[in-house]
Amino acid sequence: MTSPNPATAPVPATATRSDHELVEEIHRLKQERNAIILAHYYQQPEIQELADFVGDSLGLAQAADKTGADTILFCGVHFMAETAKILNPGRKVLLPDLNAGCSLADSAPPEKFRAFLDRHPDHVVVSYINCSAEVKAMSDIICTSSNAVRVVQSIPADRKVIFAPDKHLGAYVQRATGRELVLWDGVCEVHVDISIDKLKFLLGKHPDAKLVAHPECPPHILAEADHVGSTSSLLDFVQRDPGHTFIVATEGGILHKMRAAVPHKHLIAAPANAENSCACAECPYMKLNTLEKVHAALLHGKPEITMDEAVRVGALRSLRAMLNLG
Ligand code: 13P
Ligand code: SF4
Repeated sequence: MTSPNPATAPVPATATRSDHELVEEIHRLKQERNAIILAHYYQQPEIQELADFVGDSLGLAQAADKTGADTILFCGVHFMAETAKILNPGRKVLLPDLNAGCSLADSAPPEKFRAFLDRHPDHVVVSYINCSAEVKAMSDIICTSSNAVRVVQSIPADRKVIFAPDKHLGAYVQRATGRELVLWDGVCEVHVDISIDKLKFLLGKHPDAKLVAHPECPPHILAEADHVGSTSSLLDFVQRDPGHTFIVATEGGILHKMRAAVPHKHLIAAPANAENSCACAECPYMKLNTLEKVHAALLHGKPEITMDEAVRVGALRSLRAMLNLG
């Protein structure tokens, strides 16, 4: 039997204490460890409130690229923390729960992806940042939901292009650019669970409402949308647009920052098929991070993200290609 890797072994939950005490203790540990907390908009409100920076995948990658902190505590999912590690081999990158995965990243196992690329030689490989470091290392350039169109447009028109792993984002980019793309067959289980029937009912009930949607949603949802964009872009739109009522088709966590930004506006989470606590689209992986786990990770310096150096260097090349686009 192999013994557990001490760097990645799960950490026992801290003894019960109030959220207030935990937050105070997290701030103290953060200073002691010279740590920065980066959080995605899909995190629990209490984690967003605690973070030094809250953003979308692109903003978080840029923040990780700029930081001088010794420790990056990443409140998001595994591929995001991995991205921070790819950019920061000399810094400690912690993810409060290593089980915080992503259905899109899981849809592209490296060996299957390699075989797919072998069947499509001479293609430029564009991979959505929601993929493993191994898949990034096999890609030419990475994109996020906020720059996918621009990344594809940056590729010479005579080149054939593979887009992976999200087929709905890929199809959206295809429509936006008029380019034909070879799509990997992956989806985000959260965005495909938004119910078009319940959504149409809501739109009927609120005829003045505008629908804003993330491009991981299937085409039948995007066809109804007034604005399609990354989480940051949706947040920006509800602030800039003169409308009063918005239906928000993405993971429900974004509503926290939206409500703070436009408290006078009426924001409605697009309903999901599955029954869950918020009746909205909820990412079970993002929600694995808790204040207790954030505290335990800072206290014990684990679970830590580690990776093979050759993979990291390969992934850095495609990630830099995206970041260099500006
Ligand atoms: P963005 O952060 O690019 O909006 O994507 C959302 C997402 O699904 C992250 O996993
Ligand atoms: Fe992955 Fe979807 Fe969760 Fe984002 S919302 S982390 S794409 S499963």
